[in-house]
Amino acid sequence: MRGRIAGTGSYVPERVLTNAELERMVATSDTWIFERTGIRERRIAAPGETCSDLGTRAAERALEAAGVAAADLDLILVATCTGDAPLPSTACLIQQRLGAVRAAACDLSAACCGFVYALGVGDAFVKTGSRHVLVIGAEVMSMLMDWTDRGTCILFGDGAGAVVLSPSEGERGILSSHLHSDGNLWDLICVPGGGSRIPPSEKMLAEGLQYMKMKGNETFKVAVKTLEEVAREALSANQLAVEDLDLYVPHQANLRIITAVAERLGLPMEKVVLNMDRYGNTSAASIPLALDEAVRGGRVKAGSLVMIEAFGSGLTWASAVIRW
Ligand code: COA
Repeated sequence: MRGRIAGTGSYVPERVLTNAELERMVATSDTWIFERTGIRERRIAAPGETCSDLGTRAAERALEAAGVAAADLDLILVATCTGDAPLPSTACLIQQRLGAVRAAACDLSAACCGFVYALGVGDAFVKTGSRHVLVIGAEVMSMLMDWTDRGTCILFGDGAGAVVLSPSEGERGILSSHLHSDGNLWDLICVPGGGSRIPPSEKMLAEGLQYMKMKGNETFKVAVKTLEEVAREALSANQLAVEDLDLYVPHQANLRIITAVAERLGLPMEKVVLNMDRYGNTSAASIPLALDEAVRGGRVKAGSLVMIEAFGSGLTWASAVIRW
């Protein structure tokens, strides 16, 4: 039996950081940011508000929507690159908060692609006998931002989304997952310091190596190419035409990337879920957050055919096709 998304949930911090506020922090403008990215504002976690705080709230909502008790979860996967601490996993902290006493719990690191990867892994567990799997994408991207670097700090935001996967009796569920990576492109987006290569030190902090570095323009081009490829791969594997899709929920990195991919695929923008204007790029949280809004907003119904896809640091790219 394949995994079916039985419930979705999401949560974003209260604090809104607008483009107008960024104008006062770096040499940028609301017009530039909106025209080049489609982003108007993003959410920022309060001091002390952690990745597990956001993830737990999203998970509680997903469990409630699915009608599944935390104690019945077999597995919790948290896709994140901004967990509470290197140890323990953020998944274990969320497990404790939910009271998911039977669940195995671990984090998965695939940056902005993390949720699509974790969904594929969760589905594999359902296929091999797990009953309920909680898949969370949760990020406090603001902790990785150099607020003097206009090339990155305008793009990212904080948030969380979650889904509960349960076994599907019929045609509904995750029809396919296609996951890819190319480590040759690791330096397009990276955080150089804070790991075993450059451990935390005063020198590391002084050089700002704890912050994200990105080659934005190159990333843009690779993103459009890989997203088109992995969408076509998914359609072909399922013997589907692009017209068969009811909804397309892409990673919310940049409106121009999404528009370019939709154009190349021949997909009308009415079928595309967009919310980066309000949240920016929330990395692994972006797809489950957009998916939850689409479900709660009535855009996804039983039987809808939905494609999700993402790209991110690694470089990683991935897609999944879901019969709702
Ligand atoms: N405000 C104003 N000007 C800015 C700016 C900002 N925030 N950021 C860059 N610029 C300037 C550049 O300095 C450059 O100026 P110049 O022509 O005088 O040298 C000009 O705008 C164009 O820069 P460029 O980097 O070519 O812009 P772009 O159109 O590629 O947009 C990004 C930059 C980052 C928005 C875009 O490349 C992008 O979104 N890339 C993908 C990044 C991504 O999605 N990362 C996450 C992956 S999960």
